[in-house]
This record gives sequence, C-alpha cells and structure tokens, in this order.
Amino acid sequence: MKLSNKVAFITGGTSGIGLETAKLFQAEGANVVLVGSNAERLAEAGKALNGNALLIQADIRKVADIERAVEKTRAQFGHIDVVFANAGATTVAPLASVTEDYINDNLALNFTGTFFTIQKTAPLMSRGGSVIVTTSFLNTIGYPGLSILAATKAATRSLVRTLGAELAPLGIRVNAISPGAIATPFYSKIGLPDNVLSQVAANITDKVALKRFGNPEELAKTALFLASDDSSYTTGTEMVVDGGLTQF
Ligand SMILES: NC(=O)c1ccc[n+]([C@@H]2O[C@H](COP(=O)([O-])OP(=O)(O)OC[C@H]3O[C@@H](n4cnc5c(N)ncnc54)[C@H](OP(=O)(O)O)[C@@H]3O)[C@@H](O)[C@H]2O)c1
Repeated sequence: MKLSNKVAFITGGTSGIGLETAKLFQAEGANVVLVGSNAERLAEAGKALNGNALLIQADIRKVADIERAVEKTRAQFGHIDVVFANAGATTVAPLASVTEDYINDNLALNFTGTFFTIQKTAPLMSRGGSVIVTTSFLNTIGYPGLSILAATKAATRSLVRTLGAELAPLGIRVNAISPGAIATPFYSKIGLPDNVLSQVAANITDKVALKRFGNPEELAKTALFLASDDSSYTTGTEMVVDGGLTQF
C-alpha cells in the first residue's frame, strides 16, 4: 500500500485518466475525493469506487466551486496529501474560428482552474504532500486546431516549475504528467464527426513510436509514482507518458 490513509483530491476524476487514477489510489489505501462537473458521471464514478469516495460536483471554471470542494474535503478529512489537478477539455477550433469567448472558456478550465485548485488546496497540505498536474504532448508538438488548448497546457507546465519552487520550502512537491494520445472519452468531446476522428486517430498512431494509443491505466501508474514517497526527490518535473510521440 503506497498511499495508506492518504487523502487524494482529484479533479476530472469522473472519467478517463482521473477515474483510473482514483481506482489505483484507492487500491493503494487512499481516501479519494472526486471532483467532476457532471452529476451523472460523478455518480457512476462513485459506483466504480465501491461507494467509497467523497463525490463533489463542482465546475472547475468557477473559483467559488473549487473553494466549496476544498471546504467539503476539509470538513470530512481535515487535510489533503495528494492533489491531482487533472480536469481538462476542449473543442477543435482552427485559427479563423477561435473567438474571445472560446479562449476565455479554455483558459478558465485548463489553466485558471488548475491554478486555483492548487492555490485553494495548498493550505490543507503539509510536508510530504504531492501535487500532480496533467499537461499534454501539445506543449511539445504543434497540432492543427488545438492552438488554445496547447497554450493553456504550456502555461500549466510553467506553473509546475513556479509553484514547485514556491511550495518546495514547505516540503510539498509539484510535478506534471504529460500524456500522449490516450484512449479516453476526451476525443469524443472535441466536436469532430466520427469519420474525421478515426482519421485523426490513425494519423496520431502513425506518429507514436509504439504504434498505439496509451491507456489511462498507464497514466495512473505514473500518477501513483508521483503521488507516493517513491518520488520523494522529484519536483518541478514533467513525466512524459506518450509512447515516444514527442521523443523521436
Ligand atoms: N486523452 C488524451 O489523449 C489526453 C492527451 C493529453 C492530455 N490529456 C489531458 O488529460 C486530462 C484528463 O483527460 P482525459 O483524457 O481523462 O479525458 P476525459 O475522460 O474527458 O476526462 C476529463 C475530466 O475532466 C472533467 N471536467 C471537464 N470539464 C470540467 C469542469 N468544467 N469542471 C470540472 N471537471 C471538468 C470531466 O468531468 P465531468 O465530465 O464530470 O465534467 C472529466 O472527469 C485533461 O486535462 C486532458 O487535457 C488527455
């Protein structure tokens, strides 16, 4: 048990990478707090965690929602050991169709939400705590139609360094996980028709050295490493889990 009696606060925990990580953290002894914006998916995720997780419906784009989620966690557990700031989503928008509202919405979820998740949880953390942020292969390679998501992810990678430096004196480590193409519901939400989506998937698979999509369990294992004392001397870094997509 690598996370015995630890409290893990996971945003974007209702699906994909976040949910698989929640399952693994629970299996390793953690008390899991799951944050998601969709009530149905939150309830389903709760069942997948044997009814044993604290489920909090919150929209990460709203700071007041994050504050409420953190307060509920404090009321139930008193402290937080691990924060997985993982919530994220986008829709494809080529250069000409990007609007001010689109940029603001992407920033609110993928950057500002991550920032305030860390700011609001940090006071409940103590020496030995671990913060993990989900970034993306998009902050290393360019992909058409995803300019704003890529920019927000590069910004979160930057945050990991700065907040890592700020929290290091308190004994709290801050790291990122950079997924490549991972088989999760993420792609079904990006607003592309199925036939285009399968072409995009084939195109990405071709660029991946290992010639396949990753699965969320492979990300969960990396999150477990960063959450646990196994990575006690690792902070400020970004662990790339992408089958070689950005390396060759
Ligand atoms: N899959 C990939 O290939 C890939 C590649 C690079 C990076 N990533 C990153 O990995 C992270 C997890 O994505 P995933 O692939 O696991 O996709 P996913 O299955 O779609 O999960 C996204 C999670 O984010 C939550 N979320 C979305 N909007 C939210 C909001 N406004 N407030 C609170 N939660 C919200 C969703 O919960 P609700 O539906 O309940 O709102 C869901 O739990 C994201 O940050 C994504 O950018 C994924």
